[in-house]
Amino acid sequence: METHRSEVPLELRDLGPLRLAALHALSWVMRTRIRLRHGDRVRFGRSVVANFRLDVRGAGSVSVGDGSNLYAFLGKTRLYTRSPAARIVIGRNVRLNATTVQAAELIEIGDDCILGDANLMDTDMHPISADRRRNPAAETRSAPIVLERNVWVGGQAAVLPGVRIGENSVVGFRAVVTSDVPPNVVVAGNPARVVRAI
Ligand SMILES: CC(C)(COP(=O)(O)OP(=O)(O)OC[C@H]1O[C@@H](n2cnc3c(N)ncnc32)[C@H](O)[C@@H]1OP(=O)(O)O)[C@@H](O)C(=O)NCCC(=O)NCCS
Repeated sequence: METHRSEVPLELRDLGPLRLAALHALSWVMRTRIRLRHGDRVRFGRSVVANFRLDVRGAGSVSVGDGSNLYAFLGKTRLYTRSPAARIVIGRNVRLNATTVQAAELIEIGDDCILGDANLMDTDMHPISADRRRNPAAETRSAPIVLERNVWVGGQAAVLPGVRIGENSVVGFRAVVTSDVPPNVVVAGNPARVVRAI
């Protein structure tokens, strides 16, 4: 359980050794509890930080890369897979704080991304068709979401099915991202539009 200083997420490096040790002990308990419930379908890399607000559900697979910090204080961090084939793949050194991730197919979050209390969903969850909307067996649109490296998604934003967000880009507070975002831009609004380059 010992942690090397270089493996500590950047935002935790100011914690004293005692608090850091306590945080890693808590994280170990949380990861173990989740692993006992889900088995090999859920994998955590080295030094992943989490508190009791991490909620993992569903029959699919979830992997979280080394050094990622899922400690939530704004609400729960939810990682929900909605089918046995669904995958949530979180890279290294990712920061999630009260993010809701719901995957029916694939949601990939690249290394070094930061996400606030945003919603990522790769499925609409109901068909548009009025007479099939309540039918759980009816076909529903779903398409993978990919966040490339070092993307920052602000609070209360939503990322909808099929969206790819390019490296380094930023999604503003409350933006609703309905289509691909190129690298190195800021997008904002509903529907999200590029407001400036970085
Ligand atoms: C995305 C953000 C960081 C961009 O900041 P910025 O680069 O300084 O952007 P600017 O203030 O220069 O805004 C550029 C334009 O986009 C608009 N804009 C910026 N953020 C917006 C938002 N969230 N919604 C709607 N429009 C927005 C601005 O009004 C401005 O429009 P204008 O050119 O017509 O005047 C910031 O606006 C933001 O949303 N911050 C909150 C991040 C957050 O949620 N953090 C907590 C969770 S991690």
